[in-house]
Amino acid sequence: MEQARQRIRYALVGTGNRGTTMWGRELLAGWSEFVELVGICDLNLMRAERARTMIGSTAPLYADFDAMLAELNPSLVIVCTPDDTHDDLIVRALESGADVISEKPMTTTPEKIARIREAEARTGRRVDVSFNYRFSPTSARIKELIEEGAIGEVTSVDFHWYLDNQHGADYFRRWHAFTKHSGSLFVHKATHHFDLLNWYLDSDPVEVKGFGQLLHYGPNGPFRGERCRTCPHTGECDYYFDLSSDKFLDTLYEEPSSVDGYVRDACVFREDIDIPDTMTASILYRSGVQVSYSLNTYMPIEGHHIAFNGHRGRIELRQYERQPWSVPPADEIVVIKSFGGGTEHIWVPHEPGGHYGGDNRMRDMIFKPGSNDRLRQRAGSRAGAMSVLCGLAALESSRAGGAVAITPLSPEIAR
Ligand SMILES: NC(=O)c1ccc[n+]([C@@H]2O[C@H](COP(=O)([O-])OP(=O)(O)OC[C@H]3O[C@@H](n4cnc5c(N)ncnc54)[C@H](O)[C@@H]3O)[C@@H](O)[C@H]2O)c1
Repeated sequence: MEQARQRIRYALVGTGNRGTTMWGRELLAGWSEFVELVGICDLNLMRAERARTMIGSTAPLYADFDAMLAELNPSLVIVCTPDDTHDDLIVRALESGADVISEKPMTTTPEKIARIREAEARTGRRVDVSFNYRFSPTSARIKELIEEGAIGEVTSVDFHWYLDNQHGADYFRRWHAFTKHSGSLFVHKATHHFDLLNWYLDSDPVEVKGFGQLLHYGPNGPFRGERCRTCPHTGECDYYFDLSSDKFLDTLYEEPSSVDGYVRDACVFREDIDIPDTMTASILYRSGVQVSYSLNTYMPIEGHHIAFNGHRGRIELRQYERQPWSVPPADEIVVIKSFGGGTEHIWVPHEPGGHYGGDNRMRDMIFKPGSNDRLRQRAGSRAGAMSVLCGLAALESSRAGGAVAITPLSPEIAR
């Protein structure tokens, strides 16, 4: 008789949107054959309690992370708290004997990277970083094309990411709007993009010249309040957000904000916002590849355009995630071969779930035994570190001027 497989006993820390959905409700709905949620931790127990109901779990709640680890001894901890708190929770989880899945970005400073890497080496446990964009169907197809040599050796990349007035603005409503919590969007958001580049190109970035300015949100607004719910400008503000119209977010954040003051609809025009909203970077890779990158946070479209230029052709993708016209339920990758080699149009269908199926593919890869990682999509702490270092170099360059070399930021990792 086949022996019953032991399920992974996991604990969740951080019960905001990401913890509650991706690593709570959805994980249990699709992968409960492989995992069992044994404990839930959040400093805000009212939010944790609501999250537990939304997840459909009966796991015990904790505000004290160490008590949860000591009492439950989980074999996996999934970290879904704000970015600057990841390192502390990751290290404590590793020291308790658990493996860790950290939400991206893995962390926000070189010192925190070093702490995580040291603890991982010392404990012999494993840190996975949740780079779900590697798993989106178009990313996987592009990686295959590059590895097959469809355009010969890649020499440069044009990569432009657009966040729309809804998603982009959301980062200016919360803790992400402050460098000390998010490392700026060069780290918080671009960690996905720099990781994609590192993975696609199979090389490390070595030098970055960045520009970043706050041109739209923060002090640029024509008026401001504390938060949308109490603002006198709701009728005239393009960014008015009625939290009560979103039942899920309202339940998870509004009443629980009475516990910790964490409001979900703070004003995007607050004068103390200190991160750029308009960013570009030129990146040089060790392999010699040059990258031209940009990130804009107030566009009428959401999505990205990427092109790989090689000695024997070019690969293009324009992926829309939200736009004021309709697009087919598939994305078109165009492979244009040089020297009359022809053009191939490859349609990649969207799959169900977040990131056009990337979230589901990543959970399959991590939790289904025997998954074949032929494209090396599963990301560990080194990948987590390299994309953060690239973002920190871009940020430093944008603030201090001049190009910034990556190796001196973290010589142990970026050799
Ligand atoms: N991979 C992706 O596509 C993706 C998408 C969204 C968010 N994320 C990441 O997920 C993480 C969480 O994002 P979110 O939007 O859910 O954040 P959030 O702010 O909505 O929720 C974070 C929760 O963590 C709790 N918390 C804060 N510090 C804590 C601590 N020390 N111990 C225990 N609980 C603590 C807060 O009370 C809050 O409930 C972030 O790192 C974010 O970058 C990743």
